[in-house]
Amino acid sequence: MGMKVNHHYQEVKESYLFAEISKRIREWQEKNQDKAAQLIRMGIGDVTRPLPKEVVKALKAASDEMGVAESFHGYGPEQGYDFLREEIQSYYKKFSVQLEKEEIFISDGAKSDLGNILDLFDRGITALVTDPVYPVYVDTNIMQGNKILYARAGEENGFLPMPDSSVKADLIYLCSPNNPTGAVYDRAGLAAWVDYARAQDAVILFDAAYECFVEGDLPHSIYEIPGAKECAIEFCSFSKKAGFTGTRCGYTVVPDKLVFSGQSLRKMWLRRQTTKFNGVSYIVQKAAAAVFTEQGEKEILENIQYYKENAKTIMATLDSLGIYYTGGKNSPYVWMKCPDGMDSWSFFDKLLNEVYVVGTPGAGFGEAGEGFFRLTAFSTHEKTKEAMERLKTLLGR
Ligand code: MLT
Repeated sequence: MGMKVNHHYQEVKESYLFAEISKRIREWQEKNQDKAAQLIRMGIGDVTRPLPKEVVKALKAASDEMGVAESFHGYGPEQGYDFLREEIQSYYKKFSVQLEKEEIFISDGAKSDLGNILDLFDRGITALVTDPVYPVYVDTNIMQGNKILYARAGEENGFLPMPDSSVKADLIYLCSPNNPTGAVYDRAGLAAWVDYARAQDAVILFDAAYECFVEGDLPHSIYEIPGAKECAIEFCSFSKKAGFTGTRCGYTVVPDKLVFSGQSLRKMWLRRQTTKFNGVSYIVQKAAAAVFTEQGEKEILENIQYYKENAKTIMATLDSLGIYYTGGKNSPYVWMKCPDGMDSWSFFDKLLNEVYVVGTPGAGFGEAGEGFFRLTAFSTHEKTKEAMERLKTLLGR
């Protein structure tokens, strides 16, 4: 008898979707060194705009502080510094959401917290996810030995599945604006999920990583919905909002009203974080706080607009080609139907091999993603335009 390892790791695919795509790109680059420089990446949702100047200024100033005994910072509060939690608290007021500072926890990003949050729940519980789905929700639950149920998203429901009261789940994952489809729930849609969760004593894990792309009167936070504080945890990130994919900072909101089996989830999360996490660095939190200054906000809005221009370029191309798609308006992702009935990995190979453009195959996000393909708007204007020209050439139209 050897060591008893977590055998559920054998139940997840050998590599994480974006690791698999990177591997395929590396293999292609090795075989096609003469073409490698022409590669255009529109696969993983990684930003290309540099950090806003205001953020860099704060990073430098905080670094200087760290080099002086009087302003040096050692271990910080595991749940984050008050100066950043207060900025986030004020940000939510824009959506008429009142949060207590203690309900906000600073982290190194939404992905980590979406995985770590499972520490609060028993193993073997049931998680309901939409399909297609951000693979982190599925893989982290499989690793825990949890059961997974799928709510199918497709053209028939505008990629916004609604709850089915006959389905019983403990955790419900919602991502709006959605990764990968770019679809956004309106208030009535989210309210139906809140009612459903409350009726069955379930917890919604709401991924708001793309809220900064929302336009018009659509919800940015699930807490805009009455009753959500009794049933939802919200995850957000500075990655897409302010270019922090490499800097790492996010936050998770665990409301005080979340009490299950007599236990406060907020207190449990605090206990978890203080035990297993030593907080995000002072320097990075200072940088994140700069995002909320007047100048910081102005600069991040310019970057978001920049990406939205790319999304428009992609959408206009797909319109001209007569290809069905969703997203792009309230999201950096455009979710397109593969042309000529191709399956998504075949289209991935065709795009890569024939026009050197990388996207993400819809099938990588779940069975319901088969036949679809995700393009990100996070590239540069020049590369996005060039990729779309190549797509037109590829499809011979
Ligand atoms: C994506 O491409 O889906 C995202 O970049 C993944 C992430 O944010 O972790």
